Amino acid sequence: MKNIVVFASGSGSNFEAIQKSILEGEIKGKIVLLICNKRDAYVIKRAEKYKIPVKILSEKEFEQYDDYVNELIETLEEYKTDLIVLAGYLRKVPDKVVKRYKGKIINIHPALLPEFGGKGMYGMNVHRKVLESGKKVSGVTIHFVDEEYDHGPIIVQEKVKIDEDETPESLAEKIHKIEHRLYPWVIKKLCEDKIKLTEKNEVKIYD
Ligand code: GRF
Repeated sequence: MKNIVVFASGSGSNFEAIQKSILEGEIKGKIVLLICNKRDAYVIKRAEKYKIPVKILSEKEFEQYDDYVNELIETLEEYKTDLIVLAGYLRKVPDKVVKRYKGKIINIHPALLPEFGGKGMYGMNVHRKVLESGKKVSGVTIHFVDEEYDHGPIIVQEKVKIDEDETPESLAEKIHKIEHRLYPWVIKKLCEDKIKLTEKNEVKIYD
């Protein structure tokens, strides 16, 4: 059983999809903690519903950035974290954490990276930009996290067709549907050690 810590800042529909998949026995893991940087995020309510511990951790509440980083690392160690899952987490994970948990931190992005990623590219901003670009296809990317925003080695991508009358809202809905299936699948595989990041930063997926 792997200990999973989820980082989230918003609504948490992905968080809940993962928890449901765990409860259905699909994933050999357990969400041991939710780390959230916003006290009023709806994801906290969802965690409470499942009696999952929540820790509010925001760098803004620390005078020194290093103190924040150390608190974060101590927390991850305390919960014997095997896997960190970013699910709508709007802050950058400190480099020290990224290094320490290399190959054990994943992120989900609601577009086909490397396009439409980076700082400020989250939520509806992404879907608006994709539609403005005139693209006919968007999708979901799940990747290992490295020191840059939306940048690490890609584990899986799934495409979705953009319809003529697509709006940012309708695209968001389609993409969420894919995310709620694809993220639990990747987490399941990681918990079974069937997805690996090699020394050369290559992603290997085994049956
Ligand atoms: C998802 O679309 C994910 O791709 C992005 O943030 C969104 C989070 O949605 N990183 P939710 O909070 O899980 O509903």
